[in-house]
Amino acid sequence: MDLRLAGKVAVVTGASKGIGLAVTRALLGEGVSVVAAARNLTDDLSQLTTQGKVHPVQVDLGTPEGPARLIDEAVVAYGGLDILVNNVGALHPRTDGFLSLTDDDWLWALTINFLAAVRTTRAALPHLLERDSGTIVSTCSVNAVLPDPLVIDYSAAKAALLNFSKSLSKEVGPRGVRVNTVSPGPVSTQLWLGEDGVAATVARASGGESADVAKRAAAEGVTGRFTRPDEVADLIVLLASERAGNVTGSDFVIDGGLITTL
Ligand SMILES: NC(=O)c1ccc[n+]([C@@H]2O[C@H](COP(=O)([O-])OP(=O)(O)OC[C@H]3O[C@@H](n4cnc5c(N)ncnc54)[C@H](OP(=O)(O)O)[C@@H]3O)[C@@H](O)[C@H]2O)c1
Repeated sequence: MDLRLAGKVAVVTGASKGIGLAVTRALLGEGVSVVAAARNLTDDLSQLTTQGKVHPVQVDLGTPEGPARLIDEAVVAYGGLDILVNNVGALHPRTDGFLSLTDDDWLWALTINFLAAVRTTRAALPHLLERDSGTIVSTCSVNAVLPDPLVIDYSAAKAALLNFSKSLSKEVGPRGVRVNTVSPGPVSTQLWLGEDGVAATVARASGGESADVAKRAAAEGVTGRFTRPDEVADLIVLLASERAGNVTGSDFVIDGGLITTL
């Protein structure tokens, strides 16, 4: 299927690894020019710069000024913006429970999982409105509707992101901008499987093995496995394309059947 994305310009946040890197790679494959944001320029992201139009931006999106600087740089680099992928996000498993969380912990989770997307959207929207078919896709999470005390702050932040995206879709839809979210269950990235990821942190706290923690999480879905980053990326790229031209205000779950409710 031709997604008719060639020649478009996209900003992808959290693009140095995991889902954001996969989205960057997939957009490049469709002939999109991508401004790829993260704090670090990884070897994987550097390699992509040899394969197409990728403009990496090293920026801390948890700062008040980072998102606006990113969008300014994107517009200077490629002259406008068609697609925003709000993908940046992070979590710390709260193995000591709710009472161990300080205000700073809450502010950190709400900033990187919610406010970063709000600020990036605020900076990007005027440019998206200039195009015929601007679109925003944000990486949310099943935890937006599957609250979990282990990630209590992250769950609340993702619920806010889901709600924000739906509200915004109503305001900007009549002006030609579509807003959607993608909500993955466990995905095989550093967030889950890295040294300080969910599996290792839970294993350290419970005295088990991280591989067993990951295996149990995978078994909770009906497919029995984690989603791959490229599978999430394909869904995001389809939603960003005009093939999904009448899809807005929607959330798409990609969780291997983890959520059992209708
Ligand atoms: N993996 C999962 O199971 C899963 C499930 C549901 C939803 N999600 C969501 O999917 C998104 C991507 O997650 P992932 O699994 O791909 O995570 P990941 O592998 O940990 O990648 C996170 C990305 O965000 C960047 N980042 C983190 N903090 C940043 C900051 N302050 N400023 C700029 N960039 C920052 C990281 O790069 P630097 O460290 O270089 O800055 C990296 O590129 C997140 O929103 C996450 O909540 C993930």
